[in-house]
Amino acid sequence: MGSQIEICPSILPADFSRLGEELKMLEEAGADRIHWDVMDGNFVPNLTVGQDVVASCRKSVDIPFEAHLMVEDPDLLAPLYIEAGCDLVMLHAESTRHLDRSLNRVLELGAKAGVTINPATPVENVKHVLHLVDQVLIMSVNPGFGGQKYLPSQETKIERVRSWILEQDFEIDIEVDGGISASTIAQATVAGANVFVAGSAIFSHPDGPQSAISELRETASVAQ
Ligand code: DX5
Ligand code: ZN
Repeated sequence: MGSQIEICPSILPADFSRLGEELKMLEEAGADRIHWDVMDGNFVPNLTVGQDVVASCRKSVDIPFEAHLMVEDPDLLAPLYIEAGCDLVMLHAESTRHLDRSLNRVLELGAKAGVTINPATPVENVKHVLHLVDQVLIMSVNPGFGGQKYLPSQETKIERVRSWILEQDFEIDIEVDGGISASTIAQATVAGANVFVAGSAIFSHPDGPQSAISELRETASVAQ
């Protein structure tokens, strides 16, 4: 954990009528993890997959599942996605009144925990839970949809989190999510990120997901 480059395809652009096959394709294309974008239609103006869909796909691949919970009630839903087979569950700091307690609940259930912040949320909001998390996810778009433009303004947050991790000698991944492509991944890497979510850049790459994932990984590795 902490500095290895990892590429995590988002399920958002996938063909939901054959999700298991799509995940298998992504695993064979070199994906390090599957990024489940869980949206409840309230925390974000979009609705995606329930825990039963995740559970039904668990046996399709061996790579880890991470759940990005964009939901109003993460204390209710996090246990369901852990039960469904998610290895890492990321909570939005904006979605729970007691972030420390909510993250501890994830840990008590045996999963890894991550904290996520939206573009308008100060990076200081994650500072006092770094001792609890395996990953900090910095949103580089406003959550809810794929295919949006990367926000370079978020790079100062990545830099701050990286400095805190170094200061305290934590082993924590910094993930960036939103608008990541071959033309934005280098600057996010230079800022200090090492894990990258990509949806449209992988699914709409003219040469297919394997080329897309390799290109993203190579571009980030050169920039690191
Ligand atoms: C947005 C999601 C992202 C998004 C990424 O709310 O959290 O994971 O699907 O899609 P792209 O890579 O197309 O921006
Ligand atoms: Zn996401």
